Amino acid sequence: MNQKQSISIWLCFGPILFLLFYCKSDTDTVSLLGPISVPKDNLQTVEKIKFGKQLFFDKRLSQDNSVSCATCHVPELAFTDGKKLSVGIHNRLAMRNAPTLLNVAYQKTLMFDGEVPNLEMQVLVPLKDSAEMGNQMKELIQKLRAIPKYQNQAQKIFKRDFDAYVLTRALASFQRYILSDDSPFDSYFNGNKNSISKSAERGWILFSEKMYCTKCHVPPHFTNFTTENNGLYATYEDKFDKGRFRINGDSSEIGSFKVPVLRNISQTAPYMHDGSISNLTKVLDHYSKGGKGHFNQSKIIAPFTLSNQEKIDLLEFFKSLSGTVKD
Ligand code: HEC
Ligand code: HEC
Repeated sequence: MNQKQSISIWLCFGPILFLLFYCKSDTDTVSLLGPISVPKDNLQTVEKIKFGKQLFFDKRLSQDNSVSCATCHVPELAFTDGKKLSVGIHNRLAMRNAPTLLNVAYQKTLMFDGEVPNLEMQVLVPLKDSAEMGNQMKELIQKLRAIPKYQNQAQKIFKRDFDAYVLTRALASFQRYILSDDSPFDSYFNGNKNSISKSAERGWILFSEKMYCTKCHVPPHFTNFTTENNGLYATYEDKFDKGRFRINGDSSEIGSFKVPVLRNISQTAPYMHDGSISNLTKVLDHYSKGGKGHFNQSKIIAPFTLSNQEKIDLLEFFKSLSGTVKD
């Protein structure tokens, strides 16, 4: 091949090689979770996230200044609170167990009923719930607008007075920022096979192959974003919380709850919508018995037996799902 030919070959294939290399190094560093979807009227900016963070940790967001979002969504506990049922103002018991907010940006619907469509609207629920923050919105907005730091940021970032629009947008932006995508398991799933222990790897194989867990807890999000009945109870007759049935009155949805994400799952005990299962070994016991057999229980759930070593391996796998918690 003469020099001219080799130059033209390089001119032809060089850009392709460059692109191949570029794309490869890109996927190596980019999170497998993919881009988050952000509403057009609430694009992420550093200032907005910072503003949302101040609001998230501020107890003045509750009627008696005693409870902030972070009271029930504690960063050190992967944005849960360690309680069976959350506790709001005047020590009132909330209806459910606080779910993690990690990767909430990817959720398609919010709450255990899978009903609230986006983070901006969700914010209003705890703010108004008498067992959580107990506010009348009009009074709350007046109170927060009178805080110069908040009014100034509303003017600067949103070009308007502090109002419900500002409050909901800023809080939603902060929550879209709290991602967990750097766990040892993420690295393993990305192809770095040595990033989890052999025991955790065996646990992952059990979880995804021997058992049926990934049918609902689909990696990398560990949820299928729908509501399901995992056979937690044989009957919900005596329970006031019947899951998605509360929303649509459809008896085929009695006991259907949104499939939790399992991110940082070792830090988020107790488990289930009512915090009724205190640890992960007991969660495995629940599934290994094949659920309690409610008439709506998913057909996927069936009994299995696990050796002690297999249980240890599964717990190791669960630990490998813990990434750094940004706050
Ligand atoms: C008193 C405790 C408490 C407070 C305060 C609280 N939350 Fe929650 N949060 C919960 C509970 C319990 C749930 C589950 C509710 C349900 O499913 O019905 C929840 C659910 C959520 C969800 C839905 C997550 C998902 O995956 O579906 C988001 C988002 C959320 N809270 C954000 C916030 C924000 C923002 C604030 C502050 C404005 C806040 N929470 C204040 C206890 C609390
Ligand atoms: C049919 C879908 C489905 C399958 C299959 C399934 N789960 Fe679940 N899982 C759920 C639902 C729904 C919940 C929440 C139920 C509730 O709150 O009442 C849940 C809750 C959990 C929780 C508690 C999460 C939390 O944050 O409270 C863990 C852990 C868990 N599942 C692990 C597993 C394991 C291990 C397997 C396999 C043996 C499995 N799941 C199979 C649907 C499923």
